[in-house]
Amino acid sequence: MSVTILIGAQWGDEGKGRFVDWLAADAQIVARYSGGDNAGHTVADGERVYKLHLIPSGVLRDGVVSVMGNGMVINPISLLKEIDELTAVGVNITPENLLISNRAHIITPSHIARDKASEKSRGNDPIGTTLRGIGPAYLDKTGRQGIRIGQMLDVETFAEAMRASTERANAELVNLNAAPLNPDADLQAYVEAAYRLRPFIKDTSLYLHQQLQAGAQVICEGAQGALLDIDHGSYPYVTSSSPTVGGALSGLGIGPLHVTRVMGVAKAFATRVGGGPMPTEQKNEIGDRLRGTGTNYWDEYGTTTGRPRRCGWLDLVMLRYTAAINGFSDIAVTKLDILSGFDELKVCVAYEYDGERLGYPPDTTERQDRVTPIYDTLPGWQENLSGARTLTDLPPQARAYLQKIEQEVGLPIKAVSVGPEREQLVRLA
Ligand code: IMP
Repeated sequence: MSVTILIGAQWGDEGKGRFVDWLAADAQIVARYSGGDNAGHTVADGERVYKLHLIPSGVLRDGVVSVMGNGMVINPISLLKEIDELTAVGVNITPENLLISNRAHIITPSHIARDKASEKSRGNDPIGTTLRGIGPAYLDKTGRQGIRIGQMLDVETFAEAMRASTERANAELVNLNAAPLNPDADLQAYVEAAYRLRPFIKDTSLYLHQQLQAGAQVICEGAQGALLDIDHGSYPYVTSSSPTVGGALSGLGIGPLHVTRVMGVAKAFATRVGGGPMPTEQKNEIGDRLRGTGTNYWDEYGTTTGRPRRCGWLDLVMLRYTAAINGFSDIAVTKLDILSGFDELKVCVAYEYDGERLGYPPDTTERQDRVTPIYDTLPGWQENLSGARTLTDLPPQARAYLQKIEQEVGLPIKAVSVGPEREQLVRLA
């Protein structure tokens, strides 16, 4: 029995999905613990590219059970769309290989309307949310007026709860100068969704407990990234859940003594979507080059929203911080191949703040906005890395880049991705 927790070590979009898919080859269960359809996980398998928003990446492996944990907020309409799209391309999804926690919360149309209205009301200072209703759904959950997936088992009370939730939301929408919603408008679609999803609903924490007792290997799939954590991120420019290690345990209902590995997944450079500090951002041709033109699906444009991502040099101060708050045991690095062709590469090793050199980010968003990155410059490489499968296939400059990360963060790198395909991986140790 063992649990591996996979965590995004930056601001999300690190490429966690492909590492979950890789680790899932030796696991029985992949369990997602937080967020909703604000996430976008891309897994490529030959000709086919799967874009997952809600369903854990384990669903692409035969014999693996996917669990959607209690820490998630789930839009049932988006979920059914995803199930239908995956089924249409031959992915087998049944109540035997997909289990949805009865304690997860539901995203309703009024959560989406509230998200949009709230962003609009912030004028020139929006959070830059994905407008999927994530924040309002977690707000209702902690305000003890959310609707849990388990309520779908009693369709009559579910419909009443949906109607009451829209009526409550309407008062807030009017306050925010947004149009109120008709409580009956989407009810039928939600009731139909309840009938379809009922067979998938389970007490997943009890299931996980029993499977762990029976010796199962479980991979916990994170969404978003540690720097978007509601507590540990640059508040308020964060998501409304805990995409950090504690969120994995509470978002699935499992204990820490099962955990044998906490893998941080970090992109070889920095990206961020939405507002908030990003000290190494390059608003110039370097950022443009890292972003790509958008013609490839792996270019830096949101999988969920299509928004161009902010891009910059690798920030090892932030990585040191996420390693500390999560207790990473090791790191996986993604998209090293994208750095080919630069004459030199910069990595941020410290910040300067008020004349002081800092090895960790300062503790407030305002201070993080005012730091100046201190860079080390490393030689670049020109070789195409896409065919590399072992460390010795990488040019010495690429190996030196990885070594620099290991030294600065104090953790071993166990795998490096050099292209979007499943097999485009360099495994270390
Ligand atoms: P929300 O999660 O939609 O409320 O968005 C809050 C912040 O988190 C915004 O800055 C979003 O851009 C960011 N965010 C949410 N999900 C993701 C993700 O999967 N990848 C990257 N950023 C995300």
